[in-house]
Amino acid sequence: MRRKLAAGNWKMNGLSSSLTEIEALVKAHPDPDIDILICPPATLLSAAVVTAADHTLAIGGQDCHAHEDGAHTGDISAPMLKDAGASYVIVGHSERRTDHGETDDDVRGKARAAMAAGLTAVICIGETLEEREAANTLEIIAGQLAGSLPDIVTAVNMVIAYEPVWAIGTGKVPTLEQIGEVHDFIRTKLVARYGDGVGNSTRILYGGSVKPGNAAEIFAVSNVDGALVGGASLKAADFSPIIAALEAS
Ligand code: PGA
Repeated sequence: MRRKLAAGNWKMNGLSSSLTEIEALVKAHPDPDIDILICPPATLLSAAVVTAADHTLAIGGQDCHAHEDGAHTGDISAPMLKDAGASYVIVGHSERRTDHGETDDDVRGKARAAMAAGLTAVICIGETLEEREAANTLEIIAGQLAGSLPDIVTAVNMVIAYEPVWAIGTGKVPTLEQIGEVHDFIRTKLVARYGDGVGNSTRILYGGSVKPGNAAEIFAVSNVDGALVGGASLKAADFSPIIAALEAS
């Protein structure tokens, strides 16, 4: 059985006043039977860890450098995230791939660094609209999986997030059939590469315009083990019903 994961990615949003949203989440879900993760901006990471202390809500980073330390102004390493109390880090989000030119190779290096530091890497993949319209989705996904995932992983230190680029922040969501097709494909690839144990135990999240209104139907799709949520994770009032829908699924 894969433990479900509701992950919130705050992106470049959130000031100290936003910590009340984390307080509200831990109050609303004191004893969840799923994993809950919030990835706030780096400026709030330590404070978020303190706010969530003694609760089961995990805190994660949104990116990490592939090296442990060194002359990389503005970057944050995986050991630094770990030291600040994070347990997860998102790597290879499409906004990083687009805004910062990150390649599959870069993402694999970051994922390796995250795992070496004892973090769980949430590795993001997904096709653009052009790629989907050209019927290349599965080929793109296969390429990103082959290039972005490290060879040596465990069932707990890697999570895959399938996020169609055209669904992120747009309110557009693939059909349930389209989501199912890609998630089943990812599962098959994971089993082929890592074997039954790790392949079947690795969680696969869907991300892209998940809202309280569409969460339950998405969570009913096969091989959807949770969600990576952007906009709707910023407010506890929006994220909480998504968490509840995942718990009920
Ligand atoms: P969205 O973002 O939920 O705002 O579409 C998802 C993501 O980018 O992880």
